[in-house]
Amino acid sequence: MLFQHATFLHLDSIDSTNNYAANIQKLTPLPEGSVITARYQVQGRGQRGNVWESANDQNLLFSVLLYPRFINASRPFLLSELVSVALQSVLEEAAGREMSIKWPNDILCDERKISGILIEQNWIGGNVQSAIVGIGINVNQVQFEASRAISLKQITGLNHDPLRILHVFMTELEKWYMLAFNGNFDEIRKAYHSALFGKDAERRYVLADGRVISATIEKVDEEGLLHLTSRETGPMKCGLKEIGFLY
Ligand code: BTN
Repeated sequence: MLFQHATFLHLDSIDSTNNYAANIQKLTPLPEGSVITARYQVQGRGQRGNVWESANDQNLLFSVLLYPRFINASRPFLLSELVSVALQSVLEEAAGREMSIKWPNDILCDERKISGILIEQNWIGGNVQSAIVGIGINVNQVQFEASRAISLKQITGLNHDPLRILHVFMTELEKWYMLAFNGNFDEIRKAYHSALFGKDAERRYVLADGRVISATIEKVDEEGLLHLTSRETGPMKCGLKEIGFLY
């Protein structure tokens, strides 16, 4: 039990649960696995400086505090991988539908995004000292500004209890976190790749210079780089800023 001392803090409204978690960390570090949730975020943050939009009191917005000191520079993508796998399996179970992981860590259903992850890791001397894992899950919202968003309610036609999903997720997260703690990296990587969107299937992508290519995803390596084979360019390795998915 790695999260046995975890505490839960529920907020009504905050700028961002990730910001709140980072501020708390500076004052009084909370036990591993502690969670901060909010019904509403005034400035919810997404990856690459994007905004995470979520209507008041309809979804699940939370941040988890972790101390994954076992993660070193040879596996900087490990946390992202295991959190994605835990989230994908919990959402698949809740929805009764197949979910995939879009590299690096979006969860999709029918090519629409149901959940996003923002991980902020604090590296000291070649190891991760602490991490804030921020997750937004579209639960009961049915109207979105973003065209490619979807919620559990839209998939199932039912309302879901966000805090129940949180509870199930934390149990699943602890399981995958424990595997990583014990060095079972292959199991995590296998699960990540078996849910990976676009793996072994030819799709269209856009490169940073605007070129559109047809390519097949081969794998994501330990650093988090996407390996593809493209008709136009042959084998290639891409970081986040170098490639985009086309639908
Ligand atoms: C993304 O897909 O771009 C990542 C979205 C992450 C959103 C969550 S909501 C809870 C936590 N607090 C934030 O400000 N962001 C994350």
